[in-house]
Amino acid sequence: MDDRLNVRTMVDAKKGKIKPAIYTDPDIYQLELERVFARSWLFLAHESMIPKAGDFFTTYMGEDPIVVVRQKDGSIEAFLNQCRHRGMRLCHADGGNTKAFTCAYHGWAYGLDGGLTSVPLEEQAYRNKLDKSRWGLTRVPRVSTYKGLVFGNWDNEAPDLETYMGDIAWYLDGFLDRRDGGTEVLGGVHKWVIECNWKFAAEQFCSDQYHAPYTHASAIQVLQASPANKGDGKPLGDGQTPRPVWADALGGVQFGGNGHGSAFFFTEKPDANVWVDGVVSAYFRDTYAEAEARLGKVRALRLAGHNTMFPTLSWLNGTQTLRVWHPRGPNQIEVWAFCICDRDAPVEVKDALIKSHARAFGPAGFLEQDDSENWVEVQKVLQGHMARKTDFCVQMGLGFEERRDDGIPGVTNYTFAETAARGFYQHWADMMSAESWEEINALSAAYQKELVHE
Ligand code: FES
Ligand SMILES: [Fe+2]
Repeated sequence: MDDRLNVRTMVDAKKGKIKPAIYTDPDIYQLELERVFARSWLFLAHESMIPKAGDFFTTYMGEDPIVVVRQKDGSIEAFLNQCRHRGMRLCHADGGNTKAFTCAYHGWAYGLDGGLTSVPLEEQAYRNKLDKSRWGLTRVPRVSTYKGLVFGNWDNEAPDLETYMGDIAWYLDGFLDRRDGGTEVLGGVHKWVIECNWKFAAEQFCSDQYHAPYTHASAIQVLQASPANKGDGKPLGDGQTPRPVWADALGGVQFGGNGHGSAFFFTEKPDANVWVDGVVSAYFRDTYAEAEARLGKVRALRLAGHNTMFPTLSWLNGTQTLRVWHPRGPNQIEVWAFCICDRDAPVEVKDALIKSHARAFGPAGFLEQDDSENWVEVQKVLQGHMARKTDFCVQMGLGFEERRDDGIPGVTNYTFAETAARGFYQHWADMMSAESWEEINALSAAYQKELVHE
């Protein structure tokens, strides 16, 4: 083990303590790019975005620019979006269709398969001595898809995608596999910047439902009308606490290894988490029977909540947002939000869903704004010397983890617990300090064994 930056002393998942330097230290951030982002399976695109040969989409793996390209044989390849001549960003477009990629700096051109095909004035300038076969684009060695989602991984030693996903695939199926036709991305991608560390966003989506009654109090009051929530829209009285409908629900927080988490609750409503009534809500009710036949009752009945597949892919059932928290230094992220819909949904549902997605979780979405304000303020507080030395508490539900016998996988806890957050940071520390995936896997197995006393 190479605990180069002493990350082991910064995360104590067993005691539920974290040193905030993990959110601010530039050296830690550089090590994250190497050890977390260059070794994990990272979301690249949805297959529906690049259906035809020559279709491409540009994205990032960590801070590395990537171009994802549909090949002539229908397969998908991904390349570093960097010209091999002098490092220029090769493709500047967000996406499109092309026969070749030509660099805007000096004109080197590459085929869909990444091979260098043309060099201006090759004969005169290079005397025909340039071996073009050696100067193709840098290929992402591992690209794999799961139910329409395309992932890439730089590390040949990493487990295959489905092994890496583990239990989180069961939860992701509830989002992607409700209907026979699968899913597609509606419209384009919303992109915006938040001044916070990527771990605040990723960890919250994997674990934190505790924030909702306070952070989203106004939304809960307005949208989930009930006497307990003061759904009449009038201000809360002194001493009153907003109370989400799921506070007494049977629920849990899952951690199934590799840092993934699902903060979920059960509901008897097929349209829970939609947050608006109307055609979207009706659609989830109308398609319930098909979803139940495919997924079983628990997931079809909107096993609602939010989820993170480590490190930076998150989604939220119902509002159908799927997002990546692209890191931009220790103090900033770029959020890329995709609206995911069942491919077979009627067009009026798709139109309404795009709007409801933007309303709740677009850049100015009423839930998005609530969440990001917290992360930005914590990041600002951490500019202080003493603030950076003051431990965070991640102890909620510590010691009350359990395994269920009702088919719900992973280690669970009460709805409000930090089990998945502890798992997230444990895995982060394992990746940051372990030399190999063999070591990471051994550390993960040991942590999970200790987590539940059976
Ligand atoms: S940097 Fe691309 S052709 Fe020179
Ligand atoms: Fe939230």
